[in-house]
Amino acid sequence: MASPMTARVAETTSKPDAIVEVRDICKRYGDLEALRNINLEFERGKLTTLLGPSGCGKTTLLKIIAGLVPSTSGEIRINGKVVTGPGPERAFVFQDFALMPWATVLRNVAFGLELKGVSQAERHRVAKHYIGEVGLNGFEEKYPHELSGGMRQRVGIARAFSVNADVLLLDEPFSAVDEQNRRKFQEDLLQLVEKERKTFLFVTHSIEEAVYVSDRIVLLSPRPGRVSQIIEPNIDRSAAPDVIRRDKGYLDVVEEIWQGLRQYAE
Ligand SMILES: Nc1ncnc2c1ncn2[C@@H]1O[C@H](COP(=O)(O)OP(=O)(O)OP(=O)(O)O)[C@@H](O)[C@H]1O
Ligand SMILES: [Mg+2]
Repeated sequence: MASPMTARVAETTSKPDAIVEVRDICKRYGDLEALRNINLEFERGKLTTLLGPSGCGKTTLLKIIAGLVPSTSGEIRINGKVVTGPGPERAFVFQDFALMPWATVLRNVAFGLELKGVSQAERHRVAKHYIGEVGLNGFEEKYPHELSGGMRQRVGIARAFSVNADVLLLDEPFSAVDEQNRRKFQEDLLQLVEKERKTFLFVTHSIEEAVYVSDRIVLLSPRPGRVSQIIEPNIDRSAAPDVIRRDKGYLDVVEEIWQGLRQYAE
């Protein structure tokens, strides 16, 4: 088969139907310059991955977009509106994501809807749907301490999906998931991207994972965090997962990104 996956470096970040706009974002923590002049746009129905060495500011950027951390300068717009704090059109799963330990899986997943005042019957219906989507059927009445780390992350993902936000911010959501489930999860994530037409911002340390799931990969360089390169893997999603993972085009993009990042390896 002709390789369908020729990566190309995007020429422009200007997208007409951008939902999330990141404009000249700079962030300092005291003397530390965490992010410098970040300009990015994110479209509906697309998954963009932030990739870069530890400490380059991926979580910081996601938290600024979430409205949880203020930027030092610049602005974030969601659907054209400047962000001043968290909002219902954004949902997130963070690295240090905490579930409510006193609440069952079902209640944790339904919690965002509970906050919105959705009736119990309706929020349980929605929550159960996403509990199924992340493969946790039968665990509705368990408590977080009864789950593995990977299962807890999946509860976080189900919760983020349940609130029906336009924008999903996923900070290393699969880091506690073992390799065989991780691949399954990557495939599930792709299905959700296609079905739900939301805007996904994803962070991972895995280059293979980034190339497999992303429409676009933003490489960040550290100290201060800056956009160093934007890569569009151009994956043919109609191909079977094992065909994609063995495709020369796919493997070439993985290698190209590794070459770009190896200078930061310790
Ligand atoms: N609350 C904070 N106070 C002070 N410095 C911070 C704070 N949060 C992050 N930093 C610093 O900002 C820089 C970027 O951190 P951040 O957590 O955004 O990186 P990251 O790319 O997500 O790293 P990792 O891949 O390890 O998760 C780091 O140097 C970090 O030490
Ligand atoms: Mg981080």
